[in-house]
Amino acid sequence: MSASGNGEAKHGVACKRGLEDRADNMEDSDHNSPAIKKFPDPVQSLANAHPGLGQHGGVNPAIEASSTFAIMEPQTLNKLFSGELGAEHGLYIYSRHFNPTVLSLGRKMAALEDTEAAYCTASGMSAIAAVMLQLCSSGDHIVASNRLYGGTHALLAHFLPRTCNIRTTFVDVDDMEAVGAAIAPNSKVLYFESISNPRLSVANIPALAHLAHSRGLTAVVDNTFAPLLLSPARLGADVVVHSLSKYISGAGDIIAGAVCGPAELISAMMDLHHGALMLLGPTMDPHVAFQVGLRIPHLSIRMKEFGIRALLYAKRLKKLGLKVIYPGLEDHPHYALMTKLLNDGYGYGGMMCLDLDTKDRAQDFMRYLQTVAHFGWVAVSLGYHDTLMSCSASSTSAGLTDEEKAVQGISPGLVRMSIGFTGSTEQRWGQLLDALIALKLVPPPVSNVR
Ligand SMILES: Cc1ncc(COP(=O)(O)O)c(C=O)c1O
Repeated sequence: MSASGNGEAKHGVACKRGLEDRADNMEDSDHNSPAIKKFPDPVQSLANAHPGLGQHGGVNPAIEASSTFAIMEPQTLNKLFSGELGAEHGLYIYSRHFNPTVLSLGRKMAALEDTEAAYCTASGMSAIAAVMLQLCSSGDHIVASNRLYGGTHALLAHFLPRTCNIRTTFVDVDDMEAVGAAIAPNSKVLYFESISNPRLSVANIPALAHLAHSRGLTAVVDNTFAPLLLSPARLGADVVVHSLSKYISGAGDIIAGAVCGPAELISAMMDLHHGALMLLGPTMDPHVAFQVGLRIPHLSIRMKEFGIRALLYAKRLKKLGLKVIYPGLEDHPHYALMTKLLNDGYGYGGMMCLDLDTKDRAQDFMRYLQTVAHFGWVAVSLGYHDTLMSCSASSTSAGLTDEEKAVQGISPGLVRMSIGFTGSTEQRWGQLLDALIALKLVPPPVSNVR
């Protein structure tokens, strides 16, 4: 991974090459419904990305907490700044650029997502913004899903056009014709979420990546909702971005992000003279990288348990006649697609939505669950060990217009739940059911569904 690189030749070249390498991942050439090869469990590559022992034989590596690095031979400094030498030679300059502890976490993220390289950032938003600014220049165009996290939507709809003259057309990514029609000669990126926030739509990653490449675009996928469950790069995406603040860090105490992709792109983003990460500076603090690195080994156990509980509750809520949205339910519009794309053994994820139609009903329900039933917390974010609940229309998607909310299916009463794994499964189900009965959202049981 070079510290330097050609900042001008930054983008598509590296990304398209990454895709060609992966073209044989599809077993047939019908990219609208390709047969997906099953890959080895990503935890196998993660095990190989172990950083080794610490300085004194500690089972955890030491944190390289230095902002700057002593250079033994002054002429080496020139070589570092010209890109002749760099992190791949074990040489570092300054921690806004490569830092060994952050790079070690980057290697884990690359192993997790099966990309050539990765580097970590101060937040998920900075990962997304830096990728866009690296891949697009003033006057360029992005095609993005119309079902995105509110912050990403705001970045693309408002911030980038105002500050950088980078415009976005939002489309329904289920509609390949609409996606194709939205691509313009100056389009550089096709952007979507593997599982969308908050409505849990699942993107047809192979078909979208294929379309992007056939028109010369880079496919960038936010995989925040589905680490380990889905591997977008294996399915054809060029770049995978993450908010590590969610499932990957897992304890609700860290804000962090990552960009996973071709080595050439990561190198370009870290370029001393042209790189979006190096020059805008949202690289990760090594203390944070160390903390996140300690949690990745148990990510697989957590994701499995989240998936088991969310599926069970979703099925039971469905049986009670409620409007549940969960991609593991057979009536979810993307159930078959998700089943085809999934890595084996992780289920359908820990995110579930319950549509209670009105804001009042949703708020009463969340209030009861938090203060009376003690089922979880009314809080944004996800991937925490306890259940987190929020009403998307009036929180993380509040910046959307009513029309945009309607297009995304975000009703005022949509309660997004990140199902936790604390407490026993039946204890938590009992709390959920008590709230539903107390608020007369379901009739009192004759014979309890429990
Ligand atoms: C899907 C998705 N992507 C990105 C982000 C932004 O991440 P961060 O809060 O780490 O900046 C979020 C935050 O909620 C998200 O839900």
